[in-house]
Amino acid sequence: MPDTISFARGAPSPDLIPVEAVRKATVKALEEDWQKALSYGVGIGHPGLCAWIADRHGIAAEQVMTTNGSLEAGAMLFRHLLSPGDRVVVEQPSYDRTLLLLEQIGVEFVPVALEEDGIDVDAIEKALESGPIKLAHIIPNFHNPAGCTLSEEKRRRLVDLAAEHDFTIFEDDPYRELPFGEEPPPTMLSMDQADKVIHASSFSKTVSPGVRVGYLAGPAGQIAAMAKIANENYISPNMLAGSLVLELCQSGVLDENIAKVKVALEERRDALIAALEKNIPEARFVVPGGGYFLWADLAENRDTVALAQKAKDAGAPFIPGTDFMLDGGRQSLRFSFASVPSDQMDEGIARIAGCL
Ligand SMILES: Cc1ncc(COP(=O)(O)O)c(C=O)c1O
Repeated sequence: MPDTISFARGAPSPDLIPVEAVRKATVKALEEDWQKALSYGVGIGHPGLCAWIADRHGIAAEQVMTTNGSLEAGAMLFRHLLSPGDRVVVEQPSYDRTLLLLEQIGVEFVPVALEEDGIDVDAIEKALESGPIKLAHIIPNFHNPAGCTLSEEKRRRLVDLAAEHDFTIFEDDPYRELPFGEEPPPTMLSMDQADKVIHASSFSKTVSPGVRVGYLAGPAGQIAAMAKIANENYISPNMLAGSLVLELCQSGVLDENIAKVKVALEERRDALIAALEKNIPEARFVVPGGGYFLWADLAENRDTVALAQKAKDAGAPFIPGTDFMLDGGRQSLRFSFASVPSDQMDEGIARIAGCL
């Protein structure tokens, strides 16, 4: 067994990265698309890739721009839309890097709890009674870190609320393509009739994180404004990366890789659950229907911050719940199962159990 079995990083283990497919796609991109791949582009990035993504979502090409990963997409959108003091709904728990970005802007957080079927929409309605909301950050599918998926009924209610109360929904959706069984409900982008939803996703989880290709999809006017900002900041996103990803998309290799990765991830999720039931039976969790993460609550007296340090020393790091919460989270922790091959899962969890 390796010295370190890491549940900490939301990244696939190297055996899930399609290195040979990326190599071939890069060669092809350089043979057939080198003039675009090796030139400055424009703010939207590779136009062929934008058109392919638009087609996948059933929207117009001018509703899409690509970015260097979806975190950058979110960061640009926040800087464009938000000012200090704006009220922003964040899920609790939520992706730690988004919370940090919003904190840098100085927004007023409106923390809203997650339930088994996603955010508590009643609580958002209540929050609207005490003042306007500017934006709601929602991770709809196979949540990072909570693992849950937003129900269709809640999606529709949220889209209606955004139209009625004039706030933007930032649909942050990098895990949508990774369901293990049932497909997730339709995107809020597809439900939106009032130009209130801006959707972000990425090829980090379906190709590789290092390729750094993400995108924004939304109302054409907003995308044009964001593309202008992107162009003023960095001229264009990485065009070679856009070109090779387009080659993977058009050749069907992307879909083949998604199918392969899903099988491995599902196996890992099941191995993690079996290892938790055996070694840490007190752990309570919602079984994730896809994606990378499982969020567990331990017994009331546990302190996962102290536990994380011990587990790191024992060679099985994880991230404590506090990193994903504005307040609290000491009893909870996030396991990434994408980063741990199935045959190392039991040993990794046993190392953590040994620290309890
Ligand atoms: C919810 C969520 N949004 C955004 C990102 C950023 O992804 P990237 O910038 O690699 O596309 C991640 C990565 O883990 C994530 O979990």
